[in-house]
Amino acid sequence: MSEARTSLRFIDGEVSRELSGFDPTLTILDWLRLDERRMGTKEGCAEGDCGACTVVVGRFVGTQVRYRAINACIAPLASLDGRRLITIEHLKAGGSLHPVQQAMVDRHGSQCGFCTPGIVMSLFALWLNENEASEERIEDALAGNLCRCTGYQPIIAAGRQMFEKGAAAKKAWIAQAAAMAERIRQLQDDRRLEIRKGTRRFIAPASIEDFAKVYASHPDATILAGATDVGLWITKDMRLLDTVIHPGRIAALEGVAEKEEALVFGAMTNLADAENALSRIHPHLAELLRRFGGEQIRNVGTVGGNIANGSPIGDLPPALIALGATVTLRSQEKRRELPLEKFFIAYKRQDRHPGEFVESVRVRKLGAASLFHASKVSKRFDEDISAVCGAFRLERDAKGRINEARLAFGGMAAVPKRASRAERALVGQEWNEEAAERAAVALEKDFAPLDDWRASARYRMRCAQNLLLRFAIETSEAETETRIAGPLARRDLSGELAGAAPSREL
Ligand SMILES: Cc1cc2nc3c(=O)[nH]c(=O)nc-3n(C[C@H](O)[C@H](O)[C@H](O)COP(=O)(O)OP(=O)(O)OC[C@H]3O[C@@H](n4cnc5c(N)ncnc54)[C@H](O)[C@@H]3O)c2cc1C
Ligand code: FES
Ligand code: FES
Repeated sequence: MSEARTSLRFIDGEVSRELSGFDPTLTILDWLRLDERRMGTKEGCAEGDCGACTVVVGRFVGTQVRYRAINACIAPLASLDGRRLITIEHLKAGGSLHPVQQAMVDRHGSQCGFCTPGIVMSLFALWLNENEASEERIEDALAGNLCRCTGYQPIIAAGRQMFEKGAAAKKAWIAQAAAMAERIRQLQDDRRLEIRKGTRRFIAPASIEDFAKVYASHPDATILAGATDVGLWITKDMRLLDTVIHPGRIAALEGVAEKEEALVFGAMTNLADAENALSRIHPHLAELLRRFGGEQIRNVGTVGGNIANGSPIGDLPPALIALGATVTLRSQEKRRELPLEKFFIAYKRQDRHPGEFVESVRVRKLGAASLFHASKVSKRFDEDISAVCGAFRLERDAKGRINEARLAFGGMAAVPKRASRAERALVGQEWNEEAAERAAVALEKDFAPLDDWRASARYRMRCAQNLLLRFAIETSEAETETRIAGPLARRDLSGELAGAAPSREL
């Protein structure tokens, strides 16, 4: 392999940049504010929650450059390699405000102004990627941006106006897009990137083989995927990570392959793309993913990261376990595949050997007779971590009796876990409310739930039991109102789900 490249190359607005010798875990936000003294991008929480630090990053996906909003506070500067960064300072062109900025002025979308640059950048990403947007779509795009003084209606009105009055700016954007894409393309190479300062380093391999090799020689290194967990170790725990390996340049680890009976997700597939794919399996998965962080988190957070972090309250593991997913682990020497539920051994302990990383996840599709349900219970509808997450899959024989039951929960134990006793209570039964009630009783023997500030053990148990009942009601009495918010609550008169599986291509 050729020698590693030791400088970071990216496009900063219109300007090509090459940087080296910086702190390997320096965030984009700290670089902007502390090194570049560009103060437009704000720091509110430094943990991915408030959106004040939102910037837009363009990167090659397949043959196209995709631009997406991300949180600069938790994203390492070095992850910009081969990409284009757009900050609030780049929007004003030729002395005129961008249509998004003008709309915020016209609609009185700003008071103290602290959240405003982040809100403008989230709206800018929406404007860039779509030609119109419903109020719900604008709300979704802003779910990761907190404003404590203006209130959201003027901001949403600005979101509508930017499409009405932004045609000329869009034309100008499209006119330069191909030349810019070519500049970004020229930054792609197959050399390993290695940013060093003293003994600390950020390594970004360009292929899976190189990833396996470098991880084998640094098994204690921290894998940093989307950094929506690891970023907080840096900004909140103030950890000085010694060696960081970032697989973000490896195209082969990204994307969703469609097989006849399964979808296979590369570990580095981001949650926004996963949402599009999973929504094709079942609308509940679209809603689950839509409520996963805000868009800035979903645009970078990965499927592999949500599994490998081993959180007992991660949202994907229960859904994937219920579907019957398997995870493929890879090291320099070999690959092995195991049922996802077996990957989680104990609190924050997974079945992963030194030098092994998550390569992909294979998710079984549903059959015509399968029944499926996924629910997330959290204190807030948007951008909140689950207190309980439940996902259920039932398969039935020709007589309508259950012959396979997979009931998986997050928030009910130290790991995402199947409810084996409740599953046994269902097998051989017809699926109805009585069966759900019997399974709900068995749940009490399956779990001694977590008891913490997010939710008490008693509350969690009651929620889990009620989710089973909701599943029974939703699958037998489709007209009964069981949800009060979100796309699944909106039903048209025929009982069909309205807008339940949004397919968003950003
Ligand atoms: C504001 C905010 C909101 C959030 N909301 C939610 C939510 O609603 N639901 C939810 O479940 N989570 C949520 N999270 C947590 C986080 O976004 C997810 O867990 C995410 O999927 C992590 O993925 P990542 O790519 O960012 O992982 P990283 O932060 O990069 O890594 C997480 C862990 O996984 C390891 N890792 C990553 N990739 C691999 C791999 N391929 N092989 C081996 N190890 C690997 C890392 O070393 C690290 O230990 C939220 C986080 C924030 C900051
Ligand atoms: S500063 Fe709050 S999300 Fe980044
Ligand atoms: S305008 Fe003050 S926080 Fe939004």
